[in-house]
Amino acid sequence: MAEQTPILQVEHLTKFFPVKKRKLIEPKRYVHAVEDVSFELYPGETLGIVGESGSGKSTLARATLARAILALTPVTAGNVFYEGQKVTNFRVSSADKRRLRGDLQMIFQDPYASLNPKIKIGEAIAEPMLNNGQASGHKEAEEKVRHLLETVGLRSEVYDRFPHEFSGGQRQRIGIVRALAVNPKVLFCDESVSALDVSVQAQILNLFNELKEQFHLTYVFIGHDLAVIRYISDRILVMYLGKVMEIAPYDQLFGEHTHPYTQALVSAIPEPSTAPRTQRILLEGDIPSVVDPPKGCRFCQRCFRSQPQCFEEEPELVRVGEGHFVRCHFAKEEG
Ligand SMILES: Nc1ncnc2c1ncn2[C@@H]1O[C@H](COP(=O)(O)OP(=O)(O)O)[C@@H](O)[C@H]1O
Ligand SMILES: [Mg+2]
Repeated sequence: MAEQTPILQVEHLTKFFPVKKRKLIEPKRYVHAVEDVSFELYPGETLGIVGESGSGKSTLARATLARAILALTPVTAGNVFYEGQKVTNFRVSSADKRRLRGDLQMIFQDPYASLNPKIKIGEAIAEPMLNNGQASGHKEAEEKVRHLLETVGLRSEVYDRFPHEFSGGQRQRIGIVRALAVNPKVLFCDESVSALDVSVQAQILNLFNELKEQFHLTYVFIGHDLAVIRYISDRILVMYLGKVMEIAPYDQLFGEHTHPYTQALVSAIPEPSTAPRTQRILLEGDIPSVVDPPKGCRFCQRCFRSQPQCFEEEPELVRVGEGHFVRCHFAKEEG
């Protein structure tokens, strides 16, 4: 993997949101939603991004896409490289921008929210295809959409239905078709199965895995629940309060060199009742405000291992194994 060129590379990405002033003479304050996040995404892999609600996962996905293509939300700092080329929203030609817009797609938790209730599903999916040049005319677009609907396990007649006529699982399949329609290379799936029942969740995760092979996709799969994210991920990036706490290959996530926060997330995964129960690590305290992040380690106030040093100094991300990085003063750096 080390010799491969990443399909996407994010460097020192930072996104702060200004906080509304309560008094006239108050210093300007910011929500540190994402701070100095770097990661690489390799072709064909699934990178899981996990962390409690509010840890900055969605902001990270949006800022990455904004930096590369959308330019809707300004990013505070950082760079994005796509297929080895630096892409910021200022330097890309309009032809490249169009290509990037197709190549990088995002699927949300609730695709219904972004569908116009008065427009037929098929037409809603066909429109960006026509805009993006993925179909030369309406007839071709319709044929492609009907075919894609069948590919994700829906009937082609669904084309003429309206958004309210579908269940949660069906809507998620429609969201997937909409993203696939523009021939993407990288899919950002943000809490894409979080709202679904467990059995439907499993079906959609399987569908994601099948489509990945069929369409040669690369995934960034975001969610708050490690029990779900682990089913699909080759590597996992753990976020806490806007910072990367750990990046680990999947099989090292359950080993001994993991971050204490990751250990807590792992211990919270429900086990089958037949398996011997490992000790559940209960996190103490509340998530501190990201407006005023702690001086030392972001996790120090809730960590079961913290020492005085953790409250004073922020640890660096250190390499503890092949492709495995941990931000903790007690992580044993590999020589
Ligand atoms: N548009 C916004 N304006 C102000 N603060 C925001 C905005 N979007 C997100 N935040 C804040 O940024 C932090 C990270 O949010 P988010 O990226 O949504 O986390 P996650 O997806 O991990 O739940 C939270 O504290 C959230 O309140
Ligand atoms: Mg989110």
